[in-house]
Formats: sequence, C-alpha cells, structure tokens
Amino acid sequence: MMHLPTNLFVFLWILPCCLAGEESVQVEEELISQFEEQGEISTLEQLKAKIGPIKEPPRLRHYNYSHLTSHIFHLNTKFPNLTHVYSIGQSVEGRQLWVLVVSKHAAKHHKLIPEFKYVGNMHGNEAVGRSLLVALAWSLLHSYNSNLWIRRLVDTTRIHILFSMNPDGYEKSREGDHSSVIGRYNANEKDLNRNFPSRFPNYFPSGELQPETMAVMNWSRQVSFVLSANLHGGTTLVNYPFDDYPTRGRDSRYSPTPDNELFVRLAYSYARAHTRMWKKGPRCINDDLNMVIDPQHGIINGADWYIVPGGMQDWNYLATNCFEITIEINCYKYPYEKDLPFLWNENKYALLHFIDQTHNAVHGFVVDSETGEGIPNATVSIDNKAKIIVTDAHGEYWRLINQGEYELTVDANHYQPVTKRIHVHSTNRSPHVDIYLHRLSTTPTPRPRSRVDSPREFIVARSFSSTTSPVSSAQDLNSVNVICSFLISILISRIFS
Ligand SMILES: *[C@@H]1O[C@H](CO)[C@@H](O)[C@H](O)[C@H]1NC(C)=O
Ligand SMILES: *[C@@H]1O[C@H](CO)[C@@H](O)[C@H](O)[C@H]1NC(C)=O
Ligand SMILES: *[C@@H]1O[C@H](CO)[C@@H](O)[C@H](O)[C@H]1NC(C)=O
Ligand SMILES: *[C@@H]1O[C@H](CO)[C@@H](O)[C@H](O)[C@H]1NC(C)=O
Repeated sequence: MMHLPTNLFVFLWILPCCLAGEESVQVEEELISQFEEQGEISTLEQLKAKIGPIKEPPRLRHYNYSHLTSHIFHLNTKFPNLTHVYSIGQSVEGRQLWVLVVSKHAAKHHKLIPEFKYVGNMHGNEAVGRSLLVALAWSLLHSYNSNLWIRRLVDTTRIHILFSMNPDGYEKSREGDHSSVIGRYNANEKDLNRNFPSRFPNYFPSGELQPETMAVMNWSRQVSFVLSANLHGGTTLVNYPFDDYPTRGRDSRYSPTPDNELFVRLAYSYARAHTRMWKKGPRCINDDLNMVIDPQHGIINGADWYIVPGGMQDWNYLATNCFEITIEINCYKYPYEKDLPFLWNENKYALLHFIDQTHNAVHGFVVDSETGEGIPNATVSIDNKAKIIVTDAHGEYWRLINQGEYELTVDANHYQPVTKRIHVHSTNRSPHVDIYLHRLSTTPTPRPRSRVDSPREFIVARSFSSTTSPVSSAQDLNSVNVICSFLISILISRIFS
C-alpha cells in the first residue's frame, strides 16, 4: 500500500476510460435498431403467428429429484424415437445430473445437426428454470406431430436439457422462497457459478472444482455445443459475457467480448420474445422484489451489472465452441406452483425461439482436398479477435454469425490455411460452407507462408469490416477495455503486492 499516492494518480488517470456504463446501453440500443432494420429481431406477436399454437402441459409443477427422474424416464419411454437420456455425472450427494435430449437424432451426433443446450437450476433455489424446462420438453414432444415449426426444430437440432445442475441444493430449497440463498449452493456450500476456471486466476484464484462443475466441463468438451443458455432467477433480464473484469470488488464495468454484436443479438432475441423482459423499467411485477441496483432494461453485459469471476458463461466462451448467455428468468426464486402457468406463458415462445438461434450459423466441413476426409481440430475464425471454433472429430464446424460480410479463415496443422469471403444475409442466413485444405509436403523445412494465406498476416491486412458504425464503436470500446484491463492489472498487482 506504500505506493498508493502514485497508484492513485494512475488510477484517476485511467478511470474515465473505463466508466462505460452509459456507453454500453448506447451500444446496445444502436445494435438493436440495426438488427431490427435487418429483420433479425422477432417480436412475441410475430413469433406467436409464426410458431402457432403448441400443446400445453396439463399441469405446471415443481419436481423433486425422484419425481423429476421418473418424469424424464417417462418421457423417454413415451417418445423413444425423439428422446435420449443420459447422466453427465453425479452431484456431491450422489444425485445424477440427468440430461434429456429431444431430437429426431437424439441418441448421437448426426452430421450437420447442431447441438444446443439449456442448463437449469444451477443455483438450487432458483427453481423456475427447472420447472419451465420440464414444460418445454413436454411441449416439444407433444407438439411434434401437430406443429410444423416444432417438428422442423426437433428434426434439425439436437436439444440437450440439463434440468438441474444442482439437485442437492434444490432438495434443501423451499417453495415460497422469494430471494434467500437457502439451497443456492451445492452440498459443499460452493456457488457453482463462481466455480469454473476463472479468466484472471491471479486476481480470482479458482477454488477446488466441484463434481457438478467438472461434470458440466466434461460434457461441454465432449459435445460440440453451438449455443446454450443458463437459466437463473432473481430478476428478469438476459446477461451476456463477459461476467468478469480483472479488478477486485468493483462492479459496473463494461466488459464486452470480441463477439459483442453477436451476444447482444442473442440476448435481445430472448428478451424481445418474452412478454415484457425487453421493456424498460422495473424488472419485477411484484414491486417488493425490485432492487434499485438492478438494471432497468432487458439485457446487460455481465460485468457492467456485477462482476462474476469463474462463471459458466465466460468459461463456455473461452474454453469451448459454445456461446452461452445467462437468463434471469423471473424475480421470484422459488414461487408457488400456482404462479408457474403465468411464468410459462411469459417465457415459452422465447425459450423456443432461442433454440432456433442455433441455425443462424455458418457451418460445414473442413475437408482434406486429396482424401476427402474431414479434418479434426481445424480452427475456423471470422475475425482476428473473435472466438475461434475448432472442428469436431469429423471436421464439422458451426459458427454463430450475424448478417454481414466476413472473411472465414480455416487453418489446421500440416495444411495450407484458406481464407474465403462469405456474405451472410437474410436470404442466406445459415450458409453451408465446406472448406478444402491442401496438405503441406512433409519436408522438414518451414513452409513459406504467402501473405494471402497466412492467417496472422491476413489479420493485419484485413481491409474491411463486416459491420456498420455502431458495431465498430463496440470494437473500439473493447480495445479500450483491453488497454484498461492491462493498466489496471499492473496497478492492482502493485496495490496488492
Ligand atoms: C417427491 O415428490 C413426489 C411427488 O410429488 C412425492 O410423492 C414424494 O414424497 C417427494 N419426495 C420427497 C423426498 O420429498
Ligand atoms: C420408432 O421408430 C421405429 C422405426 O422407425 C418405428 O417402428 C416405431 O413405430 C417408432 N415408435 C414410435 C413410438 O413412434
Ligand atoms: C471428467 O472426465 C475425466 C476424464 O475423462 C474423468 O476422470 C472424471 O471422472 C470426469 N468427471 C466427471 C465429474 O464426470
Ligand atoms: C484434437 O485435439 C484434442 C485436444 O487438444 C486432442 O486430444 C486430440 O487428440 C486431437 N485430435 C486429433 C485428431 O488431432
């Protein structure tokens, strides 16, 4: 602390560049109007008209662990051709972490059928996501023969549903709990949404990985998920990465990922398909549950709200192919059963529409041009900063994308990289692009890399952006943030040394 005066000076100097709260709302609003102009956002009314009526579960209810287990197996027995049940591991107290897959191709990955997941009840007392996911599975299966939109979704997507990531916490929690933390943690009293390997382990050392966390990590590495949502409770909004920022104890720090435009669209797509989540103003119908610190609009960058190190959505973004958002599905953490039909009606079209976002992706195979075999572990990137997708064992990739022009760069060990220009527009929203790579000769001399083909030089030479001005302002903000993070990290390391 001896260096504080100098540090304080540095701190005051860098402070203005990092107070981006107002700007983040402005970036979101500009992006949203751009997406609306492009016809990318569906309102609830439009979705109701497009999707049409769905079969409604006869009774919405809470399911304890044994009841949930038998219900999952019951659905599996009733719909053997559209479902598959597996466990990704066990909780501390030995409960299975059941996953129900709903798909025409339920049992295993099928070529060009993308993988999607919903994760509910990570905090054991946030019970609504768990119940709504049961209703969702029921509705998908029972509507399959009567609703063409649902049939198409189930035929073309592998939908994995982990109803409860924290079944031990759920058993401790109690119906009627507004806002407590009883049952929030797992049986080792750990908050699972702070337990993933953190992005800044020097500032936020990761604790011992819990069995539930490890199970989700294994699962997320084994299945090449494209898109995911984690359902929480406590307010009504969608929160998108990053959740963390390399400082201790300070919230309200805008911390966008390099894929910010994509996350804003995904987050707002959910909020806008909800009856009221997208509206400005207090988040809760029951005013007792409104908190002044809560945002007053339907979507927010995680760290801009409050900092969560070791959260699941950031880990998905950094360590897997998957883009994950966190949905605060409603204010009341564990409402009485009588409130569930209302909550289901608020969320059902949003839950369906969000799964369908999986299909707004450039996808295809990376193939060896001589053998015709798919190339595993090839990297696929659309931007020098944005997330890199890695092909699966068959060379298949799925990369969520907004409308725009991009240069798709594909690289793999022992192959000549390829860059291809793609144009994603409303009539070609999910382009299928196979990429053929030439194997390099096996001579030990390092290969000469041409400027055109080298992805690193391509990055430097990249001459056009796929986006319009609001988007580049988000990118500029992001570079500012990177610099800020760096300066702050130096500062913090001195203060805390
Ligand atoms: C679980 O729920 C079922 C069905 O409501 C009920 O019969 C059973 O007693 C409950 N089990 C526990 C442990 O609460
Ligand atoms: C499942 O598929 C098999 C083979 O196509 C078919 O014979 C059977 O009737 C189907 N079962 C159900 C419940 O749809
Ligand atoms: C995760 O995978 C590792 C390696 O395959 C295995 O040892 C471990 O038991 C798995 N953990 C869980 C919780 O499934
Ligand atoms: C792909 O990468 C994974 C993880 O790094 C590795 O375990 C696997 O062996 C690689 N597969 C191939 C075919 O290179």
